[in-house]
Amino acid sequence: MQIVIQDIIQSLEDTQNVSDNELYLLISNSSNDVNLELYNHADKVRRLNYGTDVYIRGLIEFSNICQNDCYYCGIRKSNSNVDRYFLSKQQILECCELGYQLGYRTFVLQSGESSLYSDIEICDIVYSIKEKYPECAITLSIGEKPRESYQEYYKSGAERYLLRHETANNQHYNRLHPASMSLDYRKQCLFNLKDIGYQVGSGFMVGSPYQTVENLIEDLRFLQELQPDMIGIGTYITHKDTPFKNFSTGSLDLTLKMISILRLMFPYALIPSTTALGTISPIGRELGLKAGANVVMPNLSPTMVRKKYQLYDNKICTGEEAGECKECLKKRIESVGYKIVSSRGDVKSH
Ligand code: 5AD
Ligand code: FES
Repeated sequence: MQIVIQDIIQSLEDTQNVSDNELYLLISNSSNDVNLELYNHADKVRRLNYGTDVYIRGLIEFSNICQNDCYYCGIRKSNSNVDRYFLSKQQILECCELGYQLGYRTFVLQSGESSLYSDIEICDIVYSIKEKYPECAITLSIGEKPRESYQEYYKSGAERYLLRHETANNQHYNRLHPASMSLDYRKQCLFNLKDIGYQVGSGFMVGSPYQTVENLIEDLRFLQELQPDMIGIGTYITHKDTPFKNFSTGSLDLTLKMISILRLMFPYALIPSTTALGTISPIGRELGLKAGANVVMPNLSPTMVRKKYQLYDNKICTGEEAGECKECLKKRIESVGYKIVSSRGDVKSH
């Protein structure tokens, strides 16, 4: 049996693909030896493509106002315990200035999904950042929008977009989201973004309520179809003020395993070691890097709003300053044998 699993890992490395049955065996196997072997193969492929480089993205959570009501998310519109905020253009530019001084060359503007900022305002913010820091990349992560809006943001200078598909299975999607949301539309948004020319990031949560191994395989198959440049996955973490408050947090090992499988399937991809990993384990982000991730996204938001952007309970880094996170991560990354590089960190050609 052990031999078979090792063959599967090897063939995933050699061909970037294996059958659904083989993926099933790999994902559902929980032996420590198999996990370690998988991480080693993923790390080898990561080093072949990206050496020991880790790219940093400065994350600016510019508003927690959200019109969606995803059952898993702490800033869903029905959560009346959230103290809602939004940053002005001036405040966003100040985050970028601080980030630029700290060495960031990518800014990720993330918010809940809302029409609080008009397309014109978003474009103005993007354009102003780009004007001031022409060598920096701007990533938007502001949810589902009409194709025309995506097109306008792109024209203003946004080059990358993050929109996780969350789960590629329709029934599962409908158990995680209210009927007003649809997986088909979300997928359409992703294909629109690609078509416009963005570097696109998608991804899913690991261990979300009702998720099966089959669902995870469907996530991988959808990503094969989309061929994203960036793939963000994180462990599902319970939030006390959501309808899913009684479901437990997902598993660290399974998340690490999925990172390794993604690295083998998408050798070129930019894969972050996410804050969610750092939240469920004190060395979660280090383990994520060792399992094949090559990006970290430290928080650049003003410290006074960080606690208000709680997608899940106990999120880390909500009391720290941007400079502290940068230093902390630098040490963590070096402790596992990688190094931060201060460049835009574009995707290698697929
Ligand atoms: N646990 C983990 N990740 C979550 N996200 C939202 N809520 C949670 C949660 N409770 C993730 C979603 C979203 C991203 C910004 O954060 O995948 O796309
Ligand atoms: Fe924020 Fe370590 S990354 S304190």
